[in-house]
Amino acid sequence: MKVQIDSKLCQGHGRCYDLAPDLFGEDDEGYATLTALTADGNVPEGREGDTRLAAANCPESAVLVFEE
Ligand code: F3S
Repeated sequence: MKVQIDSKLCQGHGRCYDLAPDLFGEDDEGYATLTALTADGNVPEGREGDTRLAAANCPESAVLVFEE
């Protein structure tokens, strides 16, 4: 599974990094970033559910998940 943040869509709601703080971080303005675990765009094995949960809870649909 792969994940991206669409920075054009992200409005800084913060649900992604509240739900999965090791998978998603925030920049100085509260917009979502990837973390060391997801920086290469790959979701760590076993964390697919948390990634889907974060994506489902983003009001802007800015967490993009690519099932493989
Ligand atoms: Fe941005 Fe959505 Fe997270 S708006 S901060 S990607 S919950």
